[in-house]
Amino acid sequence: MTLDLDTRKGWPDDLRILLDTYPREVWQDHVNLGDMARFWLHIHDQFRALGGELKDLGEGFREGRIEAADYRARYPRRLSQFLGGLEGHHSIEDYQFFPLFAAAEPRLAQGFEVLESDHESIHAAMIAAFDSANALVGTFDKDRDAVMRAAEQHDTDSERLLAKLIHHLDDEEDLIIPLILDRGEGPLGI
Ligand SMILES: [Fe+2]
Ligand SMILES: [Fe+2]
Repeated sequence: MTLDLDTRKGWPDDLRILLDTYPREVWQDHVNLGDMARFWLHIHDQFRALGGELKDLGEGFREGRIEAADYRARYPRRLSQFLGGLEGHHSIEDYQFFPLFAAAEPRLAQGFEVLESDHESIHAAMIAAFDSANALVGTFDKDRDAVMRAAEQHDTDSERLLAKLIHHLDDEEDLIIPLILDRGEGPLGI
């Protein structure tokens, strides 16, 4: 069974051992959901919200509700914040969190390897989205067809990025939060 980000449907049984014990419904009220886990979930929600905001801005521009000057003033900056934030977030996970978690629960180690390779796949999609956003802004002094073609290309890239990201965030939470609830933040060293 492939656990590729683009094709997997959640975690297989051997990586659900803790998720089955701690399903999403019990997370919010669980005594072991500490400050660190709450903060981390909040960051994930911010990425989801910012992704939605970028999507709305892109649609607004293509549908003529947002002027080019306004789009240019807002979109590239928001996109850079989003991509920069994601990059920092991923490196904290890769270098600090995942090694601690995999050591604490070797039965889930494969899951952390999968999440790390998700980050690589997301990173490639981030570069594509960044490049096509720059290309789009570069068409603003050209004719409308060129602008619309570039806008569609960027939409495709940004949809791809967001689909990967949303899927990754959900699976990542499903692997990590049950482990935190099972062990507690202190004993895990976070
Ligand atoms: Fe991640
Ligand atoms: Fe994350």
